[in-house]
Amino acid sequence: MKKILFNNTRKSCNYTKNLELLFSDYELIRKKHFSTLCLDKLKNIYPKSELFLTHSATGALEMIASLINIQSGDEIIMPSFTFVSTANAFVSKGGVPVFIDINPNTLNIDETLIEQAITPKTRAIIAMHYAGHSCNMTALKNICEKYNLILIEDAAVGFGSYHMEEPLGSIGDFGVISFDVTKHITAIQGGLLIVNNKNFEERAYTIYHIGTNRNAFQKGEIPYYEWVDIGSKYQMNELNAAFLNEQLCQSEDILKLRINLSSLYYAELKQLEESNKLRLIPEILVSTNIHEFYIILNSKKEREELIIYLNKKNIEALFHYIPLHKTNMGLKTGRYFGSNNTEDISQRLLRLPLHSELIPDEIRYITSSIQDFFKN
Ligand SMILES: Cc1ncc(COP(=O)(O)O)c(C=O)c1O
Repeated sequence: MKKILFNNTRKSCNYTKNLELLFSDYELIRKKHFSTLCLDKLKNIYPKSELFLTHSATGALEMIASLINIQSGDEIIMPSFTFVSTANAFVSKGGVPVFIDINPNTLNIDETLIEQAITPKTRAIIAMHYAGHSCNMTALKNICEKYNLILIEDAAVGFGSYHMEEPLGSIGDFGVISFDVTKHITAIQGGLLIVNNKNFEERAYTIYHIGTNRNAFQKGEIPYYEWVDIGSKYQMNELNAAFLNEQLCQSEDILKLRINLSSLYYAELKQLEESNKLRLIPEILVSTNIHEFYIILNSKKEREELIIYLNKKNIEALFHYIPLHKTNMGLKTGRYFGSNNTEDISQRLLRLPLHSELIPDEIRYITSSIQDFFKN
C-alpha cells in the first residue's frame, strides 16, 4: 500500500503553464507579473492593509522586528508553543522572548498570564494562532491598548481563517502568513507581511526594498533610488509567485476540501473521544478547521506508540512544536511564565495527515487504524 503522506500539494498542470509564460518574456519577470496577480487576489481578502509578498513568514517577522526598532533588551511576549521563527526574528536583534504558557483548551497563548509578565521593557505581544484557530484577540487588543504595546499576529498557518469575520493577520498592528510548502496554500516557499498600522507603511516599503527609496522611484516621484535605511532582500521570488498564483486560484476549493476532510476525521473519531481514549479539536471549530487535524492522547508514551503503529500501517503522523522555553536557545535568551501545559500538550499532541490529495477512504483507513490501536 502507498504511504499516506502527512502533507502534499494540490496537483495542477497550470504550474508549468505559468512558468512557461514567465520564461517566454523577460518583461513579465521584471514587472513581477505573478506577484502582482497574487497581490490583487490577496487585496480582496485584506482590503484595508498594506501587503508585502516575502520569501517566507520568517522574513516577514524579521521585517516587523526592524520596523518596530527592536533593541537589545526589548521584551516580546509570545507563546512558548510556537515555531522557532516567532522568537528568532526578535532575538536576532537583541530582543528577549518572554514565553507564556498556553491555555490547554485552545492551545493558544493564555491571555490571563500576560499582564504579570509585562515590564517597562515590554514592546510587543505576539498572538500566534495555533492551527489557524484564533487567539482571544479582544483580550489581547485590550492589553496592548492598556500598556501601549504593539500587537503582532503570527498567522503563519492562518490563511483562510477568521476572528469575528476579520481575516487572521488583519487585526493587530502587523500580521504574517506563511506560504511554505508545509502550509495549506503554498508558494513552495513564501510569506506575506500584512501592515495594518498606517504609521509603519512607508518605512515597510524601504525595509522591503533593501533599505532604499525604490518605492518612490517606482512611482516616478524621484529620478533614481539610493540607500536610506536598513533593509534586506525580503521579496518573493517570481517563480514562487507563479506557483502561488495557481494555488490562490484554487484556494476556495482547497480550503473547502480540507474542512470536509476535517469533519470526516471528527465524525469517525468522536466515539474514541466519548470513551476518553483521546481528545479532539473543539466541536465548534470543526466547520472552519483548515490547517491541521490534531488529536491529543492521554500520555506521551501512548502518543509515541501510536506514531510507530501508524507508521507500520504506512501512515505518516507527526508531533508538533517543541516548547521554545525548554530549548537551549530559549533557556539562554528568554524566560517563562506559566505551569506545564505547553510541555504536557507538546508531548501528547499528534497531527494526522491532512491535504488536498487525500481521499475520504484514506481518512477512514487512518481512523480505523487508530481504533484498532486502542483495541490491541
Ligand atoms: C507559527 C509559525 N510562525 C512562523 C513560521 C515560519 O514560516 P516560514 O516557513 O514561511 O518562514 C512557521 C512555520 O511553520 C510557523 O509555524
